[in-house]
Amino acid sequence: MADSDDIDRIRSAPDLQALEALRVSTLGKSGSVTARLKSLGKMSPEERSAEAPKIHSLREAVTAALAGRKAELENAELEQKLATERIDLSLPAPQTPEGSVHPVSQVMDELAEIFADLGFSVAEGPEIEEQWYNFTALNMPEFHPARAMQDTFYCRKIGGDPDAEAHVLRTHTSPVQIRAMTSQPPPLRIIAPGRVYRSDSDATHTPMFHQIEGLVIDKGIHLGHLKWTLETFLKAFFERDDVVLRMRPSYFPFTEPSAEVDVGWSMEKGRRVVGGCEGWMEVLGSGMVHPNVIANCGLDPEEWQGFAFGTGVDRLAMLKYGMSDLRAFFDGDLRWLRHYGFRSLDVPTLSGGVGA
Ligand code: PHE
Repeated sequence: MADSDDIDRIRSAPDLQALEALRVSTLGKSGSVTARLKSLGKMSPEERSAEAPKIHSLREAVTAALAGRKAELENAELEQKLATERIDLSLPAPQTPEGSVHPVSQVMDELAEIFADLGFSVAEGPEIEEQWYNFTALNMPEFHPARAMQDTFYCRKIGGDPDAEAHVLRTHTSPVQIRAMTSQPPPLRIIAPGRVYRSDSDATHTPMFHQIEGLVIDKGIHLGHLKWTLETFLKAFFERDDVVLRMRPSYFPFTEPSAEVDVGWSMEKGRRVVGGCEGWMEVLGSGMVHPNVIANCGLDPEEWQGFAFGTGVDRLAMLKYGMSDLRAFFDGDLRWLRHYGFRSLDVPTLSGGVGA
């Protein structure tokens, strides 16, 4: 049996399995080295003292060779694993970032930015609202036509107080006026953007849409403050100085007097754009907060006055960014979003341009 051959074979074992086979055939129970160790017992003392050191050093050499090759093979295996399972964290992001900001979110951010500059903070209220906030406190008594089933989504009553009124999906953002007035002491300057619901659906109406409410409560507030605020806001929003407003007398139960606000448009390169006054389109409902509403919130209308306005966020987005069908806003069609969506890192600012 050739000792150095064994060691050579061990050193060149191709894998751990082959190495194990070599271990068994040398140091195993019936291995070659084991057999030689056993043969020592049958030797004469002289022979044994001559052979024993050779056999023991052979066993040590084989053991060391096995351990050495095992470490080499294990290392190689680890290296290969590291190489194949490697993740290159420096890889660039996908060529076209997928996410975009929906025009409604963009316009709400633009409005919040404009009104923050005028000292307004953002207020919120629930979408599933109590009738008292949505109607009663807003001076709409029980028989008011706006409370009719065909316009309003009523929630089914589940358990609770059988005499309690059913909740509604809020039909406008005006209940947030009441929530603000009953939860914070005046003076108040708030805007309230959010979802509202009406049982209506065609090219210009969807059962859910977005409004933004504005409310100012202070002392000595008059229509001039309302007009200046709306003019300043619409000029900043449409990013044009030639925005012209027209206020028409109107009726809302919660404002007195009430005014509908039109904005002037003109034709530019065959397109209707906001600015100038070749024609008019309605953009807002507004008025001086009705004394009954102020009193319903526990404030003295002799002491506190205010103005309020409400407008459709989706409509503002359509006017500013030239979209024609309101239903497309809520289809979740990625092609539409890619076309009209905004880059997520373009945060609207007054200095950078709100519609940048
Ligand atoms: N809430 C009214 C609507 O939905 C708009 C409005 C708000 C009018 C505030 C006057 C004052 O049409």
